[in-house]
Amino acid sequence: MPITRKNTPHFLDQLETPCALVDLDRLSHNLDRMAAYCVLHGLALRPHVKTHKSQRIAAEQLRLGAAGLTCATPRELEVMSETSNDLLLAHPPVGAAKLHRVMALSRDVRLTVAIDSLEAVEPMAEAADAAGRQVGVYVEVDVGMRRVGVATAEEAIAIARRVRGLPPRQYRGITFYPGHVRQHLLRQDEPLGRLRDDLATWIAALGDAGLAPEVVSGGSTPAAWRMHEVTGVTEVRPGTYVYNDRATVEIGACGWEDCALTVLATVISTAVPGQAVVDAGSKALGREPMPAGEEAGYGCLLDRPDIRVVRMSEEHGILDVRGSDWQPRVGDVVRIVPNHVCIVVHLNDLMYGVRGMVVEASWPVNARGRVPAPAS
Ligand SMILES: Cc1ncc(COP(=O)(O)O)c(C=O)c1O
Repeated sequence: MPITRKNTPHFLDQLETPCALVDLDRLSHNLDRMAAYCVLHGLALRPHVKTHKSQRIAAEQLRLGAAGLTCATPRELEVMSETSNDLLLAHPPVGAAKLHRVMALSRDVRLTVAIDSLEAVEPMAEAADAAGRQVGVYVEVDVGMRRVGVATAEEAIAIARRVRGLPPRQYRGITFYPGHVRQHLLRQDEPLGRLRDDLATWIAALGDAGLAPEVVSGGSTPAAWRMHEVTGVTEVRPGTYVYNDRATVEIGACGWEDCALTVLATVISTAVPGQAVVDAGSKALGREPMPAGEEAGYGCLLDRPDIRVVRMSEEHGILDVRGSDWQPRVGDVVRIVPNHVCIVVHLNDLMYGVRGMVVEASWPVNARGRVPAPAS
């Protein structure tokens, strides 16, 4: 699937560290599993590209049946518009410069934006008119995360009506993000039950107002495998499932063997007793805490999960090796499973696709960054 570049080193020991490795078999398994889950339950899959930010993986998701893609930034939209003609901007499009850029996307793209305020509707419509393009709207509702999304059905109805009153804009449905559901998969009964009841209320109120949502878009990786239990949901947008990470393992939404991305790092010092220092610090791993807090460290070794990155500088990661039978030596190479994989991807220009010790492929993280994507 991913492209092989002429100058890709052939073996792991030829790679300069730190760098991001993707286990190609695990990646395929993760992609297949989510695609199969969505087919089984009749859910449209619109994966969030913020995790991989790579056209090659987006293309694979579409090949496996994804209905379209979800983006968070103009850069992601620009890059992904070359791969998919059905994109959702799941982030309020506010501000003239951003609106101008978003509306300049190819008109071949069926664009939908998520909006949670009346204030955002009119400028969005004006920018769309100026660009001569069609735009659909999902009204964003808050189901408990308290980040974005309207709090009442009345507000949702007002936004949907305003959109309808500004043809050719299309009201296409509602969207929510269950980012507050971070309990272990087996302990999600209560929050998912509440979500199901709340959604039923929203959907009924919109229906009574003649605004029944055609699409109800939700989903995250922690709640991904139980989204079919939430009646009314028609579309899901998981992102992290592609690579998974240490936090996703802890939540029970994947197994350790499903962690496809690791950071390859070299032991650069063992001078201080009880620790090994690697060349992957916060600029390679991100300073993302585990749900349990900072004490759980910032990542751990793939083949020795008990060994954790307990402290970091920008380019140094400190592994606590006390109590372990591992005797690290300067020059040893380790693979670190990060706490939150999306941040690690965002810190890298290139992913290396590996099977065992062989580097089979590499591909650019070409939707990262904020500057406009160069026209291809
Ligand atoms: C709006 C929205 N949808 C979907 C996702 C994907 O969720 P996850 O990373 O848990 O797969 C995110 C993640 O931040 C999001 O913000």
